[in-house]
Amino acid sequence: MKKSLTRRSFFFRSLGAGAGVFLFPPVSAGIIQKSTKGITPLIITSHSNETGRNAMEAGWEILRSGGSAVDAVEKAANVIEVDPEDTSVGYGGLPNERGVVQLDSSFMDGKTYSAGAVACLENIKTPSSVARLVMQHTDHVLLVGAGALEFAKAWGFNEEDLLTEKARKIWLRWKEELSPSDDWGAPEHLQNIQKKESYWKDFPDIEHHYGTTNVLAIDSNGDIAGCTTTSGLSFKLNGRVGDSPIIGAGLYVDNEVGAAGATGRGEDVIKSCASYYMVMRMKEGRTPQQACEDALKMITDKYLKVNPGFFPSEKFVAINKSGEIGCATMKGTSNPKMSVRTEKGFTLLEGTIAFPGK
Ligand code: GLY
Repeated sequence: MKKSLTRRSFFFRSLGAGAGVFLFPPVSAGIIQKSTKGITPLIITSHSNETGRNAMEAGWEILRSGGSAVDAVEKAANVIEVDPEDTSVGYGGLPNERGVVQLDSSFMDGKTYSAGAVACLENIKTPSSVARLVMQHTDHVLLVGAGALEFAKAWGFNEEDLLTEKARKIWLRWKEELSPSDDWGAPEHLQNIQKKESYWKDFPDIEHHYGTTNVLAIDSNGDIAGCTTTSGLSFKLNGRVGDSPIIGAGLYVDNEVGAAGATGRGEDVIKSCASYYMVMRMKEGRTPQQACEDALKMITDKYLKVNPGFFPSEKFVAINKSGEIGCATMKGTSNPKMSVRTEKGFTLLEGTIAFPGK
């Protein structure tokens, strides 16, 4: 067994680190803007590739003809979920350590203050649609694993193998890199500290690969809806649930204020209730852009006394009720982008980096 790459560092090198880094080239068409004036209706996604653009056009078709934000968000999320090339969401997503694709998704409708979610859902290509059904047809918020699958099948979803050949080959390569001294490691924010101890010196640059998408929309009635959907952390432990299906973490919508969504290291997003925090910041008068940046800073502030050099990979997006938009990422060298569709057309919007160069 090779020891030069750990199971996680392999993916860092192969796929790029952190949220918002995709296997696709950036969307070439579309204007990159630094900001937009508030405008509604609108639909946005944290995905900035061609599939993200297609998703926005699909969602916009619904909004344009007076349809609901809920319908637009589901339609757009489905476009991203069924893309076999996208290894971070839905069909084609990278599997867990056993080679099984387990999907997480949440849905929230600001108009009715309803939410639904599924976690560790297997064999269903469009978990966002199942999450929407949980929201609209049960008094529960979160279904997991076998129960979520049973619910989906009861609603007529077909079971399908979600592991594409591309994802399977990546997973097999990862398995090849396992070494007898590898393990699941400490929480990421403790690794730099523990690395100094003897066991950890063998693990110089353990990184995670996350990926997810958020879709947020405001319809012509001013109602707001959102969805977050993901295959979660690649090669996660069987049964690991990230932030995406956790209302308040990966997604939050308040019809009077706005909506926010998160991608990136779900463990931080869960601990910080980041999406709820962003919406509450907007309620206090912060712009969506400021709210995204506030949430990233709040996370690093929490680590100041634990590991001040720790800047986890997260990307946040937010919209407020008047249609202003924000996007920020924790670190990196290029500004994060998000896709936006309004009556003015399609736009790639450029956000900010909270801690450039980290
Ligand atoms: N943000 C996706 C995950 O951590 O699963």
